[in-house]
Amino acid sequence: MTLRQTGLNTGSHDLPVSAALNAFMGTAWAPTPLPAEDRVPGYAVTPGRRARLSLAFPGERLIVPAGRLKVRSNDVDYRFRPHSAYAWLTGLTGEDQVGHVLVLEPTGPDGHEPVLYLRPRSPRGGADPVRGAEFFRDRRYGEFWVGRRPDLDEAARLTGVRVEHLDELDKLLTGPQPVTRVLTGVDPELDAATGRPGPAALVDADGLFAAVLSELRLVKDTWEVEQLQLSVDHTVLGFEDVVRALPAALRHHRGERWIEGVFNLRARAEGNGIGYETIAASGAHAGVLHWIRNDGALDPNALLLLDAGVETDTLYTADITRTLPLSGTFTPVQRQVYELVLAAQQAGIDTLRPGARFRDFHAAAARVIAEGLADWGVLPVSAEEALAEDSGVYRRYTLCGTGHMLGLDVHDCAKARAETYLDAVLEEGHVLTVEPGLYLQPDDETLPAELRGIGVRIEDDLVVTADGARLMSGALPRSVPAIEAWMAELLG
Ligand code: GLY
Ligand code: MN
Ligand code: MN
Repeated sequence: MTLRQTGLNTGSHDLPVSAALNAFMGTAWAPTPLPAEDRVPGYAVTPGRRARLSLAFPGERLIVPAGRLKVRSNDVDYRFRPHSAYAWLTGLTGEDQVGHVLVLEPTGPDGHEPVLYLRPRSPRGGADPVRGAEFFRDRRYGEFWVGRRPDLDEAARLTGVRVEHLDELDKLLTGPQPVTRVLTGVDPELDAATGRPGPAALVDADGLFAAVLSELRLVKDTWEVEQLQLSVDHTVLGFEDVVRALPAALRHHRGERWIEGVFNLRARAEGNGIGYETIAASGAHAGVLHWIRNDGALDPNALLLLDAGVETDTLYTADITRTLPLSGTFTPVQRQVYELVLAAQQAGIDTLRPGARFRDFHAAAARVIAEGLADWGVLPVSAEEALAEDSGVYRRYTLCGTGHMLGLDVHDCAKARAETYLDAVLEEGHVLTVEPGLYLQPDDETLPAELRGIGVRIEDDLVVTADGARLMSGALPRSVPAIEAWMAELLG
């Protein structure tokens, strides 16, 4: 197994290249260096992050890959997005990071030196027939096919980190091995190269490295909170776009797709794209938690559940849901369901402060929901019994948890151990969603007919502050009258 690129990524339908064309292409290109003042966003904060990681694994070699291209079909790949741990540690967030690897090399019993193993800028000609032709012939890595990458010295300047050619990584991994931890499951070729049997310990068998990489990201610094606010602000624009587009979406036979397209346009225009697949669910589709097929028509008398987030160029994402009446006005029964979910959300939000348990906002929201369902006569037992740990029968109508950490990933820090996340207390700088919902299935015989097929989720993003929490997505209305007024204004 080699990590080296051994041939050109060309297509079977590419015309042959003559020696004359090859030679001509290798001549007469002017130098085009990157501006000397360019730095990666987050340049100032990445050294501190690497230092915290270093402290957790003294004396061990730490390997964090960006990831590989994944084939979508045939010779077409999915758009590349580097792994969040790699982006967080390097500040490198672009599509050009395919196959790149960060190594923290132990410098003694404690301390590490970071080294980036990168594919350099495509050279224009030269002695190596593969490398020299990459720039105009290679569909995956050629500069004229996918755009310019920084050269190695430019990358060192951009990141403040020592940079080596990606080919050198092969040598590193076949040389003498200190205890090595690899973030596995990200780069299959690196996994194969490091997973081979040998005298060296190449491990993260206990998953500790992946867990710590998640846990170090739980508390957001000021710069990260600014990035998340930017993603929220752009997401708000996307929601406004969707409301303005409702008349056109209602006319289209796949109105959910129309809405997805409108939101995703804003996400691509303002940021890197969507942070996760947009959920655009009309009527009973809202009862499918991750409805991303979005192939339905819009029912003008139903609710629309839109769950969407813009990912910034720095790869931070918002995660917001609004449930809107497509007619512009909630019916009494829609309002009944909506206001119960809203009360649950507010109860959850009211618990947020440093020292509160992560589980508290779930519990507070669940209590409101269970009591509401009991009042409606829907539950087979009392609210108290439904909430008991050995019951939880109210969850037939809520299905999923009430929120999660948010950051570079929509379900951020997912590998964190329970004692640092699910069973831990909140800290200043945690950013999370509070997103209770009621998902009343159209075929649920426990429900009166008028409630069936109504799905409501209200999801907001909050940052825990010194004495409470700040609602980051407060620019979007939440109450029934505020939503109706907002829609009326946008729809003119
Ligand atoms: N959009 C996924 C979630 O709300 O968790
Ligand atoms: Mn969410
Ligand atoms: Mn969501």
